[in-house]
Amino acid sequence: MTATHRPLDGRAYFITGAGHGIGRATALHLASLGATIGVNDLRENFVEESLAMLREQGGTAIGVTRDVSTRDGMRSAVQEFAAATGRLDGLVNNAAWVRYQGLADIAPETVTRMLHIGFEAVIWGMQAAAEAMTGPGSIVNVASAAGLRSTPNSIVYSGIKAGVMGMTRAAAVDLGGRGIRVNAIAPSATPTEGTMRNRDAARDAHRVAQTPLGRLGTVDDMARAITFLLSDESLYITGQVLSVDGGIGTSFL
Ligand SMILES: NC(=O)c1ccc[n+]([C@@H]2O[C@H](COP(=O)([O-])OP(=O)(O)OC[C@H]3O[C@@H](n4cnc5c(N)ncnc54)[C@H](O)[C@@H]3O)[C@@H](O)[C@H]2O)c1
Repeated sequence: MTATHRPLDGRAYFITGAGHGIGRATALHLASLGATIGVNDLRENFVEESLAMLREQGGTAIGVTRDVSTRDGMRSAVQEFAAATGRLDGLVNNAAWVRYQGLADIAPETVTRMLHIGFEAVIWGMQAAAEAMTGPGSIVNVASAAGLRSTPNSIVYSGIKAGVMGMTRAAAVDLGGRGIRVNAIAPSATPTEGTMRNRDAARDAHRVAQTPLGRLGTVDDMARAITFLLSDESLYITGQVLSVDGGIGTSFL
């Protein structure tokens, strides 16, 4: 364990899609601050890899291999983790399956799969978390800069992520009375395992040139923002979408 200050000691957070990318980095960061992590992913080997990394840094984690795109899958996963830890302080709706297609090529099966994990699972996650939380808590939905500004061939993805932002605000209204906060982050392009298939060096260079902070985002940038929204550092913040984008969303570079 590298951190000496452990402000999240005793807290329990469940993260969907934590077998790779932003979810895994968030698991590692939260664990370094003392939290117990529920590591979910669809693929068992991804879960095992993340658990090995967490344990190597001295973290405490429970693996829950499950498809969380269905209501039953999400609920059983969250319940299993909450039962094992005896509490649930937060949930990160992070898992995604993404394909970019031009309008003419959008296929029904692609839309269905993207909607199940990108949109419906966010509802099931918030529902399951609200059921499992016995006191105040925090839910972070991972949206995208694509929900605010679009790149080519992202009609389905941009629509889903804009929807996630709307659901975040609505859920914050519904759950505020119980002290459960609901926020989202909107990351800009962040190299991860999941985005490797779509990486384009020329487009990345163009993005960097347009970004005031002069680089792409990293999974650790996203992990820190999610951690802020989960922690008591953001106790009076709910219903917000935090752009974690190096300033690209607000610049005319
Ligand atoms: N990486 C980026 O550039 C970027 C930018 C903006 C937003 N985001 C969002 O951040 C989140 C994480 O992205 P990433 O790039 O780290 O993704 P990733 O593809 O690297 O990891 C996502 C993980 O989710 C898992 N998953 C997929 N379907 C699942 C299911 N049904 N049940 C459980 N797990 C499932 C995958 O196996 C994978 O390990 C996503 O919501 C994505 O839309 C990413």
